[in-house]
Amino acid sequence: MKITCLAGSIRASSFNNVAVKSFAFIAEEAGHECDIIDLSDYPLPLFNQDEEEESIIAIAQKLADRLNNSDAVFISSPEYNGSVSPLLKNTLDWMSRTPNKPYQNKIFAIGAASPGALGGIRGLAHLRDILTSVGAIVIPKMLTIGGIQNLMDEQGLAVQERQKNQVESMLDSIEKLL
Ligand SMILES: Cc1cc2nc3c(=O)[nH]c(=O)nc-3n(C[C@H](O)[C@H](O)[C@H](O)COP(=O)(O)O)c2cc1C
Repeated sequence: MKITCLAGSIRASSFNNVAVKSFAFIAEEAGHECDIIDLSDYPLPLFNQDEEEESIIAIAQKLADRLNNSDAVFISSPEYNGSVSPLLKNTLDWMSRTPNKPYQNKIFAIGAASPGALGGIRGLAHLRDILTSVGAIVIPKMLTIGGIQNLMDEQGLAVQERQKNQVESMLDSIEKLL
């Protein structure tokens, strides 16, 4: 299957980008295809309903097209003060204003990475709520990587037994829904 993957951070050394690359590595080893999105390629201003311009909706639509062109989507979001990153919420809101918003009945898998012990899991309840409210099917299993700075290998991936088990179990859930 084809999975679009994106991190809710454009920080140069983003740990959630590590989580995305790790998810994709494990999924590709299992024979799946991953399309990794870098949100810095889709500059979307802070959403203001007074300034909804066609040119910006067109950017959001290009991003939405990449999500729509896959069987499932994996999002890894930083946890900011117990919730999702403002970049991710802004991106999800912009895509919701496009003609082909990529949510209704689309399968989403979610994850988070953090230097903290809990791995950002508290923000994932919010992300699940947001996605469900716009019609997405969010699988129960998640990828959470706490203390990620200590788990990365020389390739910059966090692909130890625990992450492999989590991702393989998520892939299994997605496949059963297709
Ligand atoms: C405003 C702000 C709030 C944060 N709140 C949390 C938090 O609630 N829980 C947590 O585990 N980490 C928190 N962090 C630390 C982030 O997990 C850490 O900066 C992480 O590296 C961000 O993700 P990224 O590496 O993908 O950019 C916070 C960081 C910032 C800047």
